[in-house]
Amino acid sequence: MRMVDLIAKKRDGKELTTEEINFVIEGYTNGDIPDYQMSAFAMATYFRDMTERERADLTMAMVNSGDTIDLSAIEGIKVDKHSTGGVGDTTTLVLAPLVAALDIPVAKMSGRGLGHTGGTIDKLESIEGFHVEISKDEFVSLVNNHKIAVIGQTGNLTPADKKLYALRDVTATVNSIPLIASSIMSKKIAAGSDAIVLDVKTGAGAFMKTPEDAKELAHAMVSIGNNVGRKTMAVISDMGQPLGRAIGNSLEVQEAIDTLRGHGPEDLEELCLALGRQMVYLAGKASSLEDAEEQLKEVIRNCKALDKFKEFIANQGGNPEVVDHPEKLPQAAYRIEVPAREDGVVAEIVADEIGTAAMLLGAGRATKESEIDLAVGLMLNKKIGDAVKAGESLVTIHANREKVDDVIEKIYANIRIANHAEAPVLVHEIVTE
Ligand code: URA
Ligand code: CA
Repeated sequence: MRMVDLIAKKRDGKELTTEEINFVIEGYTNGDIPDYQMSAFAMATYFRDMTERERADLTMAMVNSGDTIDLSAIEGIKVDKHSTGGVGDTTTLVLAPLVAALDIPVAKMSGRGLGHTGGTIDKLESIEGFHVEISKDEFVSLVNNHKIAVIGQTGNLTPADKKLYALRDVTATVNSIPLIASSIMSKKIAAGSDAIVLDVKTGAGAFMKTPEDAKELAHAMVSIGNNVGRKTMAVISDMGQPLGRAIGNSLEVQEAIDTLRGHGPEDLEELCLALGRQMVYLAGKASSLEDAEEQLKEVIRNCKALDKFKEFIANQGGNPEVVDHPEKLPQAAYRIEVPAREDGVVAEIVADEIGTAAMLLGAGRATKESEIDLAVGLMLNKKIGDAVKAGESLVTIHANREKVDDVIEKIYANIRIANHAEAPVLVHEIVTE
């Protein structure tokens, strides 16, 4: 087989065989196929697309390019959740204990990553003592005995994706449905869960700017998952404005605690229930999505979800008292209000720009080496559709520096007040096949 022939075949819009796709990915991973040929292949794929079968084959070829996690020592159906990114997305912190409270195993491997705030692990590490440096055996035994554990990323997962994603970044081929879908799904499948719930975001703060594009991506990923034997469902949710009110690490831990108590922001609660009911259903614990949602609401009402969060924190060395005493979480030195300059209704809160404002305070990493300040961030006091009077606070800045003019300027530039506006629809669609 020659790479040049496979590039030509894809360029001409023909379907590649499983063997041909394996040849491309194996050759690229081990260095036999150079970047320039892979670039041409990615561009041909960008224009010619792939069939469902090719997409599933590409995904599995990337899974098989490196290590995979074996979770078979954990009893029960392991369901993982993945979000395609967003701002202030606190859902994982809520969903992990919420679902575990229904005896569904949550075996979460998580990374730190770049972004407006830290990843799930950074957020959890704002709890004093909490650590994710546990052995594989300890991880398995925690999940078997307590239904929940989080471990830091281990092993060399999907090296083909790492290499290809970096190449796509500099060859204008990121924005391709087959390439995005296989990239995301390969990482989820290598991480070892039996079933996958996807939260595909749409809007200013998301990868997919329109609901139509998000829907196409969701269908592509659900189809890959189901074609390779992992039950997969997706929710398409709005990321026009940040999710919930908190954007920042310890602020989001507190928001998660409020939500587990049943007192969270309405949108965060709604999305957690939409994703959670799919997780419970796929785990085989409910006869219908409605039944699943009832069970989730019940463990919020009877405090089992909150107790599970305390148990989880204590198991991994953290101080569970933060749940009842959130003042024990890292606190910023300064709180600065950003008042509205006119009467009206909040019409727009540009998610990614507001995320960048939180990053200016130090809530997220600009480079892999950056240090995160776990205490800082933003609290949105108003969301889209809320009425506001001049002088009322739009946002509370939690900062560890006294002068925050740059942050204030960014906030004013990205919150628009108008005469009328309505709260956006949060859950656009549920994709099951
Ligand atoms: N996220 C990924 O992991 N891969 C892509 O291709 C795009 C977004
Ligand atoms: Ca939030």
